[in-house]
Amino acid sequence: MAIRVAVPKETQTGERRVALVPSVIKLLDKLSVEILMESGAGMESGFNDDAYQGVKIVDSADNLYQDADVILKVQPPTVEEAGKLKEGSVVVGFMSPHEGDTRVKTFTKNKITSFSMELVPRITRAQSIDALSSQASISGYKSVLLAANLSPRLFPMLTTAAGTIRPSTVLVIGVGVAGLQAIATAKRLGAIVEAYDVRSATKEQVESLGGKFIKTGVTAEGEGGYARELTEDEKKQQANVLANHVAKADAVITTAAIPGKPAPKLIDQATVERMKRGAVIIDLAAETGGNCAVTKPGKDVDHNGVTVSGPKNVPSALCQHASEMYARNLYNFLALIVKDGKLALDWNDQVQADSCLTHAGEIKHGPTRERLEGGKKS
Ligand code: NAI
Repeated sequence: MAIRVAVPKETQTGERRVALVPSVIKLLDKLSVEILMESGAGMESGFNDDAYQGVKIVDSADNLYQDADVILKVQPPTVEEAGKLKEGSVVVGFMSPHEGDTRVKTFTKNKITSFSMELVPRITRAQSIDALSSQASISGYKSVLLAANLSPRLFPMLTTAAGTIRPSTVLVIGVGVAGLQAIATAKRLGAIVEAYDVRSATKEQVESLGGKFIKTGVTAEGEGGYARELTEDEKKQQANVLANHVAKADAVITTAAIPGKPAPKLIDQATVERMKRGAVIIDLAAETGGNCAVTKPGKDVDHNGVTVSGPKNVPSALCQHASEMYARNLYNFLALIVKDGKLALDWNDQVQADSCLTHAGEIKHGPTRERLEGGKKS
């Protein structure tokens, strides 16, 4: 019998994305699986139940969880949802592996195989599965639109009969996937763009997009292409140089993150107070503590005429395309673990091994195991 792959409606407040979109059904058919979906799951992303041809629509999430061999999620399951998963079933989605201990314990108790999209290795072969990247591009794009919307100034230069308007300067701090897309978007809107990242490899990337790279003299390449945490001296040196650029910018987009750690604080209150009235900061790191000291997650704060915005779950604001890209990422992952309508987990495959959070009652992700069980090896 073919396995059942099921998609519940997302329950987290403000989450409008869905793990399956109609265009991915044809691809899933190639895997010879049966597909179930909770009624209305795609509605917020613009997809009615009718659009899901060939999918069995189920009215209650409870029935869906009981029947599913594989559950596809966007947000991590709540503890209640985790408790509904059938013993031995598989769940794939964002799992926030650095938090949610009760969820992880429920997974191990019920021998759930959980795969975390955050843990998919950043290797070439896994690019089509890299949901952090697909969703970060969306955040980067949207961050600039949010800034332009909140700004009292035009971004492009305009030469009109009513005078010439000088372009805005947009500063992007943190040039990962989101930062690069923010730079490209700000350039398209005609702004002058400056950018900074601790990874020196980003200089060339910034310049190739037409941005000016800011040199602080601090570089910090860490493991796996990520940044490492800076020393106190490095932080001071970086902050001093950056502060002068922040103070002059019309809009600042911050995206700096260190996996599993609180976001580095890069803009202090004193620097916000040096900014011009009407300047805007969009802090994309708000959910992990924020890159700016004034940021309040989920709020727009007016600090002496400077708007500091800490949007939460930005990809959900562009849920239609965010869902399309995410559903593709999930399909590409499923294609690794399903063969001829059956589950075929392969722990020799780096992508499956690295992205597994729990399996057969054990915690597979090292840092999560360390946090919950100390040094015990599984
Ligand atoms: P992220 O969301 O973890 O962090 C965003 C950016 O903040 C990073 O570029 C990081 O260097 C920067 N940052 C951290 N601390 C900082 C500080 N104190 N000051 C300034 N900037 C700071 O990063 P993301 O977007 O997830 O990408 C991280 C890395 O993964 C990049 O090197 C990227 O090229 C690589 N990557 C590789 C892929 C592949 O080969 N398949 C796919 C996607 C990303």
